[in-house]
Amino acid sequence: MYRLGEILVTRERIRDMAEETAAKISADYDGNEILLVGVLKGAIVFLADLCRMITAPVIIDFIIVSSYGQEASTSGVVLLRKDIDINIENKHVILVEDIIDTGVTLSYLKNIFEYRGPASLKICTAFDKPSRHTVDLKPDYSGIQIPNEFVVGYGLDVAGMYRNLPDLHVVHTDIDE
Ligand code: PRP
Repeated sequence: MYRLGEILVTRERIRDMAEETAAKISADYDGNEILLVGVLKGAIVFLADLCRMITAPVIIDFIIVSSYGQEASTSGVVLLRKDIDINIENKHVILVEDIIDTGVTLSYLKNIFEYRGPASLKICTAFDKPSRHTVDLKPDYSGIQIPNEFVVGYGLDVAGMYRNLPDLHVVHTDIDE
């Protein structure tokens, strides 16, 4: 069982981060159309905020991935379960994630998307756990760096729950009791 714990990142700080990220993106793309690709399901909340704050023209699509491996150390095998519907050749693409943990998911997606010949490809994440990275992956827009805590809220879940919480919370297991 899990118990919802204290707030690690407040909604105000998250909002500031989203605004700053959107401002950077708007400036970097200078009015060029951007394709935001959300990695379901966790990215939906951040993507919903981001797309309304970016001033450049935006189109949106989604992908679904599954990773396979041991609980603590991912095997590095990622399966693309739902692809985007759009040809990305010559488009400016940003992959949008809620969190980078090991970095395996985005590293895999980056390879796939680069192969398709976009005009540019960048990575944007709301939260990042640099201490957990097992691959060399540098997000272009890295939001808020967090310690290695089990967290939920702002799109992140445990067993499908808590994605809708506006703040980022720590989760405790019963063993902590
Ligand atoms: C989470 C998160 C990333 C991935 C990050 O997704 O949304 O996609 O894990 O982990 P990594 O950096 O170690 O690859 P999850 O599999 O929990 O699916 P969800 O988005 O549907 O919650």
